[in-house]
Amino acid sequence: MFSHTWGIIVLLASFLVSPSNAITYTPLKPPSYPLAVRSPYLSAWIPGNEVESLPSYNAQFWAGNDLVWSVIARVDDTTYNLFGVASPNDGTTSGTVTAATYTSTHSTFTVTAGSRSFTLDFFSPVSPKDYLRQSLPFSYLTVTLAAGDSSSVQIYSDISGSWTGQSTDSSWSYSTNGSTGVFQIEAVGQATYSENSDGQALWGSAVYATRPSGSSTLSTQAGPRVTVRKQFISDGTLTDTYADWTSGAVVGFAHNLGTTADESAVTFAIGHVREASINFLGAAQTGYYRATYPDTVDAVSYFLDDYDAANTESTQFDDLISSTGSSSFGSNYSDVLALSVRQVYGGIEVTIPNESLDTSETRAFIKEISSDGNINTVDVIYATFPIFYVLSPDYIKLLLTPVFEYMATDAYSESYAVHDIGASYPNATGHLSSGESMPIEESGNVIFLTYAYQKAGGDTDLYDTYSSQIKTYATYLYNNGLYPAAQLSLNDALGDLANQTNLAVKAAVALTTYGKLASDTTYVTTGRDWADKIWTDHLGTDAAGTRFLIQYDITPWFLVFNHYPDKLFGLDVFPDDTYNTTTEFYPTVREDAGVPLDGTIGWGQTNWQSFVAATVSGDARDSFINDIWAYISNGLNTAPFCDRYWVTATDGYSAGESYSFRARPTLGSHFALAALSGANIWS
Ligand SMILES: *[C@@H]1O[C@H](CO)[C@@H](O)[C@H](O)[C@H]1NC(C)=O
Ligand SMILES: *[C@@H]1O[C@H](CO)[C@@H](O)[C@H](O)[C@H]1NC(C)=O
Ligand SMILES: *[C@@H]1O[C@H](CO)[C@@H](O)[C@H](O)[C@H]1NC(C)=O
Ligand SMILES: *[C@@H]1O[C@H](CO)[C@@H](O)[C@H](O)[C@H]1NC(C)=O
Ligand SMILES: *[C@@H]1O[C@H](CO)[C@@H](O)[C@H](O)[C@H]1NC(C)=O
Ligand SMILES: *[C@@H]1O[C@H](CO)[C@@H](O)[C@H](O)[C@H]1NC(C)=O
Repeated sequence: MFSHTWGIIVLLASFLVSPSNAITYTPLKPPSYPLAVRSPYLSAWIPGNEVESLPSYNAQFWAGNDLVWSVIARVDDTTYNLFGVASPNDGTTSGTVTAATYTSTHSTFTVTAGSRSFTLDFFSPVSPKDYLRQSLPFSYLTVTLAAGDSSSVQIYSDISGSWTGQSTDSSWSYSTNGSTGVFQIEAVGQATYSENSDGQALWGSAVYATRPSGSSTLSTQAGPRVTVRKQFISDGTLTDTYADWTSGAVVGFAHNLGTTADESAVTFAIGHVREASINFLGAAQTGYYRATYPDTVDAVSYFLDDYDAANTESTQFDDLISSTGSSSFGSNYSDVLALSVRQVYGGIEVTIPNESLDTSETRAFIKEISSDGNINTVDVIYATFPIFYVLSPDYIKLLLTPVFEYMATDAYSESYAVHDIGASYPNATGHLSSGESMPIEESGNVIFLTYAYQKAGGDTDLYDTYSSQIKTYATYLYNNGLYPAAQLSLNDALGDLANQTNLAVKAAVALTTYGKLASDTTYVTTGRDWADKIWTDHLGTDAAGTRFLIQYDITPWFLVFNHYPDKLFGLDVFPDDTYNTTTEFYPTVREDAGVPLDGTIGWGQTNWQSFVAATVSGDARDSFINDIWAYISNGLNTAPFCDRYWVTATDGYSAGESYSFRARPTLGSHFALAALSGANIWS
């Protein structure tokens, strides 16, 4: 009787408080929403499954560790926690989440609080052709009060030292520029270029800034979390006093909107700034924006000045991504693209030399987030390049230039292209001899990338500058590519296998590509001859020619993806029959949640599924797209978009569960299909 009654009460209570049915997810509920994703060190997310608990759930760094970032509102003296309040103060209540939306650049949540409704718009600009806008290491949070009953409204937000990666020793400061208030929090006594175990930068500073808008008045405070929030809860304003940093303490802003029935909005800028951002061969690089705004307070003030223009651009950009995806390949495809974009550009930094601030020496660096932290891994640039081909071909040059520069130094003497230019971002101090080496893989990749840059953007300068190096790598392929020795490919889980079909396919297509670059028909013809051997003469297929194999003469099939550049560049290296046959084959080896990478394993990779989707047609192509869409919407995952997942239940994992990677910028691969419809479409 007792327990029965309790059962009813618990059931009733959970029914009453469970808001999950009421939330509208547009276009779908992803594994994780990007909140502030602008660089490898400004990368804040919230799991899709936690959106219903948005008022009490912490934002997370890409690695999954908590970041304290709250939004609290008072409506007629009642205090509502809207976002990130894991330990609510007494007397506060949670808002109710009713909607969650993502686009390519915005993640937006609607939260009701008493008689009023708020939207929290987390906006990370992606502006790949405007290096100033793109390189500013900040992200916007705009809290909008919707029009409603007249009420007295105050909006509060704070962050803690969790954004510096240093929980035991930090310091902070507050400064103003006109009406703009700027807090900076810095880890104390930490080495430049070092990270904590979660991959957060231990040098530089976290930045939180805002300014009054409309009729709002701004107050500020720094101190112990409970104290600062309590001050807001009781008065609606802060004391403009700044206690010394202590562990867990916060810096907070309060906007008093007064008594209003109107719509009203306030915008915050959150960021992480490092003056010396990358160590490139011993010379410090810094953010591109420092050529114009060397001072952090100026930079973040400018970022707030730029809000309207950046927001207008983002609407056009989001529309372009949406229409590019859906017009050719349906809304499932555009949903995948929109979720991918911030993660790609948020894994890259655009830099200039710290000493000269010379923008004619612009470079870009990409972090192999979560897989091993390498910097400018050539096969990571290869996986990512379709997005650059579609949106910003110059990024191929910006990323490859430091690779070519390194390979030209005495420190590098191999006759093939390097795997990476440093084991641990941000130290681009050279490839370790103990690091991975993938001779055919990376030699083919630099040729593809150089040609993609030239074909998409029309500029020949990258090839012109590095033609002698590129010739060396083409020669390596010519001498070694048809029967690859035992060596790693980017699918390094396979180990050092000889005669890897996918590597020979890469060599064949890359040789023809090189022939185009160098206007040398010998290479063009050789690549095609090799393709005939591999496909038509069955060197790399089963005897009946129905599928590619992992290795010559060794039976498991392989999801060969290195002929994608053949399709994209229109080179006719492999005969039509190759593509028709694989179009028929892949659907026959699809598992519960997609096509694995080869016939021996239970996982697949969205990157290579996307490349292959662009080489097949009809149902085979649609099935690849729909499987990726099903994977990101299945509710089984919580990490920032993982590009590797189980396609069949394996080792205790369910089909559709992600497999260890997170937040990698390689998702540019998802643009492989879009790239077939047009290059360089964003201006
Ligand atoms: C980069 O190099 C510096 C100097 O050797 C070192 O202290 C730091 O830990 C390195 N950073 C990473 C992420 O490994
Ligand atoms: C304030 O920031 C602006 C950029 O928005 C900058 O031009 C100006 O120099 C700054 N003023 C001060 C006093 O720092
Ligand atoms: C970067 O440049 C600034 C301004 O010239 C200088 O103070 C600082 O020492 C430089 N940092 C490094 C690591 O070179
Ligand atoms: C590679 O394949 C060729 C042709 O099948 C064969 O002759 C050669 O021995 C193979 N190489 C290795 C290292 O297995
Ligand atoms: C490949 O398929 C296309 C139609 O999808 C067809 O036009 C073409 O003739 C086929 N080619 C070969 C070699 O079977
Ligand atoms: C999207 O993918 C899902 C899952 O594979 C599928 O059921 C659905 O029909 C697809 N939607 C469209 C519009 O193609």
